[in-house]
Amino acid sequence: MTSSEPRRVEHQQTDKGYVPVYTTAVVEQPWASYSRTDHQTWATLFERQRELLKGRACREFIVNQERFGMSPDAIPRFDDLNEVLAKATGWQLVGVEGLLPELVFFDHLANRRFPVTWWIRKPDQLDYLAEPDLFHDLFGHVPLLLEPVFADYMQAYGRGGVKAHGIGAEALVNLTRLYWYTVEFGLIRQDGGLRIYGSGIVSSKGESIYCLESPAPNRIGFDLRRIMRTRYRIDTYQKTYFVIDSFEQLMDATRPDFRPLYAELAAQPSIPAGDVLAGDSVHHRGTGEGWATDGDV
Ligand code: PHE
Repeated sequence: MTSSEPRRVEHQQTDKGYVPVYTTAVVEQPWASYSRTDHQTWATLFERQRELLKGRACREFIVNQERFGMSPDAIPRFDDLNEVLAKATGWQLVGVEGLLPELVFFDHLANRRFPVTWWIRKPDQLDYLAEPDLFHDLFGHVPLLLEPVFADYMQAYGRGGVKAHGIGAEALVNLTRLYWYTVEFGLIRQDGGLRIYGSGIVSSKGESIYCLESPAPNRIGFDLRRIMRTRYRIDTYQKTYFVIDSFEQLMDATRPDFRPLYAELAAQPSIPAGDVLAGDSVHHRGTGEGWATDGDV
């Protein structure tokens, strides 16, 4: 990658026209090829979210992000972040082109490698894009890799993913919901209030506010079985957020062997994203205002 305009993916001509070819390989971060616009996009998003997350993100997120010394001046170099990570928790970032096949992704996590999309969104996508980019991965996911308990949870998840992959598609659906409602969209109770730790939230301006301040979504206490049955949203803000009390709670709840759990859950129906159940520990029951009527995945 030496051109000044970073190339995201190769394209291949087929009978359906040109289609992108995603490589699952680890790639060197082509740092010299980031344009001024790319660095500017990073700066805009970085400054905006840092300000917004004061008092909204959990303290571990804020403190650890500062330890990396990320700044708005330039897109960070993976090599620099890796030096900090290596000393602290032994995690390493590896560059990738985009989303990976499940098993490849799980194998990285199981070996304490976190795949980071190397390219950054375009200026007209500051508020939303459908797939993870560098800002989501670096700003959103990397800080908590410095937090020892959370760092272990991520590795355990990767190992659990390799295992679930060998069990079957339904087990993978259950496990993916857990990732979604914790790693991507989790809330944590801290200092008497709710705070954000999910990466999908911290990298989104709108959802950083919505998840805590809007009366519309449900906020429900963490419950492993319940989460594994709950469908979710990929194209709107979540209808329900699950709240943990600590990262230790997450670690302890997910330590047991999931095999019997997958078997038990296979006999139970899934739960629509916005439902509240009789057994839920409800922090806030959502008004449901503005919810889409279909589209849960
Ligand atoms: N305990 C899970 C299993 O046996 C593994 C796991 C740990 C999954 C942490 C997710 C998070 O499959």
